[in-house]
Amino acid sequence: MNWLTQTLGSAIGKKLLMAITGLSFIGFLAAHLAGNLTIYGGKDAFNSYAEHLHALGPLLTVAELGLLTFALIHVLTGALLFYQNWRARPTRYAVDRSSGGRSIGSRTMPYTGVIILAFVIFHLINFSFVDKRHITIFELVASAFQNPLYVVAYVAAMVVVALHVSHGFWSLFQTLGANHPKYMPAITIIGLGLSLVFAIGFGFIPVYILFIA
Ligand code: HEM
Repeated sequence: MNWLTQTLGSAIGKKLLMAITGLSFIGFLAAHLAGNLTIYGGKDAFNSYAEHLHALGPLLTVAELGLLTFALIHVLTGALLFYQNWRARPTRYAVDRSSGGRSIGSRTMPYTGVIILAFVIFHLINFSFVDKRHITIFELVASAFQNPLYVVAYVAAMVVVALHVSHGFWSLFQTLGANHPKYMPAITIIGLGLSLVFAIGFGFIPVYILFIA
């Protein structure tokens, strides 16, 4: 328990926790997107992907528990960092005039984080915590996205996810020590590319279901 108090007590420890958990979420998002893309293969392809995933049984449960633990660490440590930065500001509520060079992604991190948390809870209620004995996963997703309000909410949430990832990716490499002028431009571009892939990859699925499928 001592390492935990020490890690949480130091600024770099907290940043490291954010970086490691954040990197694992990016890995999760890439895997989740790859799986979700099977929806373009039609009903059977998507249902078969979900069946294969659930066939992992205890392995899937372990991965889900790991994801939940990492989510708790990321959210609580992020909230603590936000609170400590807010406390340390010399004049609270003053306009930040030193923000030149900072991106919209970096300025909005705490807010996009809260929106993503709300989205994930909403998303799990829609698609995970559902009795799937009498409905296939494809029918569940297809019927949700018949509602244009869901489509709008999902597309908006994907823009928020992309904004969060665009800065998070850059920031985690800074924390992990790659903040070298030689590497950072490439890391910034990869982060932007990745966030575009997530925004378009995830965001087009609801639109495709509503208008095309
Ligand atoms: C259009 C975009 C998306 C679609 C269609 C989608 C679809 C799904 C479906 C169908 C499931 C349930 C899988 C199953 O029980 O077999 C699921 C689970 C999940 N999704 Fe998504 N998802 C999308 C975007 C996202 C995003 C952007 C995030 C994170 C920010 C996310 C996080 C999760 C999580 C954490 C689970 C639970 C995983 C598990 O328990 O194994 N999803 N998603």
